[in-house]
Amino acid sequence: MKNIIIANWKMYYGPVKAGAWVRAFRRERLPKDLEVAVAAPFISLPAVRATLGRALAPVLAAQDAFWANEGAYTGEVSPTMLLELGVSYCLVGHSERRHIMGETDEMVAKKARALQLAGISPVICVGETEVERRRGNSKKVVRQQVQKAVEGIKGDGKAPAIIAYEPVWAIGSGKPCSAYDAREMHETIRTVLKKKFGSTADAIRIIYGGSVDTRNILEFLTTTDVDGALVGGASLDPRAFGLLCRAAVPS
Ligand code: PGA
Repeated sequence: MKNIIIANWKMYYGPVKAGAWVRAFRRERLPKDLEVAVAAPFISLPAVRATLGRALAPVLAAQDAFWANEGAYTGEVSPTMLLELGVSYCLVGHSERRHIMGETDEMVAKKARALQLAGISPVICVGETEVERRRGNSKKVVRQQVQKAVEGIKGDGKAPAIIAYEPVWAIGSGKPCSAYDAREMHETIRTVLKKKFGSTADAIRIIYGGSVDTRNILEFLTTTDVDGALVGGASLDPRAFGLLCRAAVPS
């Protein structure tokens, strides 16, 4: 199981800038035993794909998807539409969607299930807020989020999803979680996954997100039970992101 680093552009880079990013990133040397994906805005996915050409990295990811494949859902984009574009991974339940757009655990679960059925691997984002952490509820909150999100997902031997642990207070704050705390939380998540999926849980990558940068990436990725990273701010500059990917693997 390769570690994976997913760039989360959030609402940056329309098609023109997305194409320029990929052209610049294609010049970056990437470690062989690392998978790299880029979660671009819907409207920029075709430009990313076209600019990639035959390049194998980064792999295409989306930032959200609806839970139905077609219908009267104005403004939504479905898993099968994303599949047509060659999308391999799709974030669901990112903290910004939960807190700004009001996404609930139920919605996240429906989206994750629909993506799996369409053949796209959901990247299920979970994480406690600062208040929940201060009250000592972090593990309880995250355990529940994971349990609910994977309810409708089937484990058929191969990894049915990726889980991204992103403490809300660490996102975009410049204050990452300590590698020690990430390890503890990832262990907790793995235990939840084992109950649901049995031994298949060992093949599920649990990645960390929240103020990951070139200086701390190696520490996270060499921590037990941390199988990759979701990178926001530090993915916006293609050369700096290339550097981050190289820094993720011990030399
Ligand atoms: P950040 O964002 O790396 O800028 O903290 C991570 C994320 O929101 O996925």
